Amino acid sequence: MSGEYLLEMNHIIKNFPGVQALKSVDLKVKRGEIHALMGENGAGKSTLMKCIAGIYKPTSGEVIFDGEVQEPYTPAEALARGITMIHQELSPVLHRPIMENVWLGREPLTRFGFVDHRKMYELTRGVLREIELEEDPASLMSTLTVAKMQMVEIAKAVSYNAKLIIMDEPTSSLAEKEINQLFTIMRKLKSQGKSIIFITHKIDEIYEITDRVTVYRDGSYIGSEKTADLKLDKLINMMVGRDVKEMFPKIPCPIGEVKLEIRNLSNRKYFKDVSFTVRRGEILGIAGLVGAGRTEVVETIFGMRPKSGGEVFIDGKKIEIKRPVDAIENGMAWLTEDRRGSGIFPMLTVQLNIAIATIPKFLNMIGLIREAQLNKVCEEYVKKIQVKTPSLDQHVENLSGGNQQKVLVARWLMTNPDILFVDEPTRGIDVGTKSEIHRLISKLAGEGKSIVMVSSELPEIMGMSDRIMIMHQGKVTGIVENTKDLTQEKLMAYATDTVEIYKKSKEAK
Ligand SMILES: Nc1ncnc2c1ncn2[C@@H]1O[C@H](COP(=O)(O)OP(=O)(O)OP(=O)(O)O)[C@@H](O)[C@H]1O
Ligand SMILES: [Mg+2]
Repeated sequence: MSGEYLLEMNHIIKNFPGVQALKSVDLKVKRGEIHALMGENGAGKSTLMKCIAGIYKPTSGEVIFDGEVQEPYTPAEALARGITMIHQELSPVLHRPIMENVWLGREPLTRFGFVDHRKMYELTRGVLREIELEEDPASLMSTLTVAKMQMVEIAKAVSYNAKLIIMDEPTSSLAEKEINQLFTIMRKLKSQGKSIIFITHKIDEIYEITDRVTVYRDGSYIGSEKTADLKLDKLINMMVGRDVKEMFPKIPCPIGEVKLEIRNLSNRKYFKDVSFTVRRGEILGIAGLVGAGRTEVVETIFGMRPKSGGEVFIDGKKIEIKRPVDAIENGMAWLTEDRRGSGIFPMLTVQLNIAIATIPKFLNMIGLIREAQLNKVCEEYVKKIQVKTPSLDQHVENLSGGNQQKVLVARWLMTNPDILFVDEPTRGIDVGTKSEIHRLISKLAGEGKSIVMVSSELPEIMGMSDRIMIMHQGKVTGIVENTKDLTQEKLMAYATDTVEIYKKSKEAK
């Protein structure tokens, strides 16, 4: 079949109980293009993609793929037609080898009807080579990084000889280098005439890799544009329906005494001799490349990892933290970077997920939950950070990815901690809400709380922090005041441990 468009979706509607996720949306994807989808959290991007992949059946609307009008189809039929999807939340079979993950459900068989492991190995080696992933097909999935697991998913798409590959926020947990690797593969697939639908909240990626952009808002189609012709402020306006600044700078507030001091904290494997202080009303940013050990430092302070040395002081008093509850009892809270692994309880309601760290505050004298009060407070937070949910009783797994992140933000803001650690607080969160979360963090600092913020986004770190600590391969390479003359370039020099070279080159100029 020919024709300019590989995929045409017209007037797609998708209803869930109590929610209209898609209110008549369109999408046209050309052959051999990389097509971006953008929109706020809960706009309907993932839902539309699941309709394409046969996971959901649209309530109504028309799907034309490769020139043919499609009757409702199953995921298996979608694959057979050449449509594959790499999900926002990966779910690989961790305890099985790579090759079985690639060929799951369609394993090559010997003539006696047994799985032909040798053939599966060879076939897998072929597809891995095609995407330049140097891994042994027999390695267990559990030994791979998230980035490599994604590459395996792409290998699977290649093995199906897909015409359309859907990638739902593939870059949200990748490091710079891995993102470049992914982009290289995407360009290669495109040059082979394949179409890719690419979802991301990172605007720079849109401009780097995509040919066209389609924007949705609140389940409605807003428009499609050629990326090269689309100005940034117009794109943001299409997404949120108003002008927003992507960053919300910290509101100046008085900075008090030292609240938290970390002295020579070490962990055998990940970092050594990390020392820093955070004062009341201060935001300390922790910058560094992925793998620098930033998250591990926070995990160790919280008693999730064993320390091999070092001390923690609060208000000048030494404290021992052996388990996370010790940290919480000492007035600390922690918004984790990994919402699937250690934060969200998918089967529980929005209400419980928000309240789970604060329940004791809502017990009456005989130990029963004061529901009305709990409801009221949860409602307040849901409103404040715009969690998009039909009610507090919705299961969290039914919320969009970014809205699950917002539930976690609400949880930790509600504990009203003295010291708040936030790790990638706005990952997967749309531009509009991002500045709202920045505003809330800033407000906490204004109330005299101490904040430690780990983030890979330099503009976020530079917009919000009073001081910035930079790490490189488990070592602190610098702690600097966040003054006006601090540049991204200089921070990167610290993050790559080349600050001496950087200084010399500046002096030379
Ligand atoms: N299985 C489901 N049951 C009920 N509601 C759902 C279900 N799946 C999605 N929704 C709702 O549909 C809307 C669209 O969600 P979707 O996941 O498509 O958003 P998204 O654009 O991908 O957002 P994000 O950027 O946060 O990933 C949301 O309001 C969500 O709560
Ligand atoms: Mg989504």
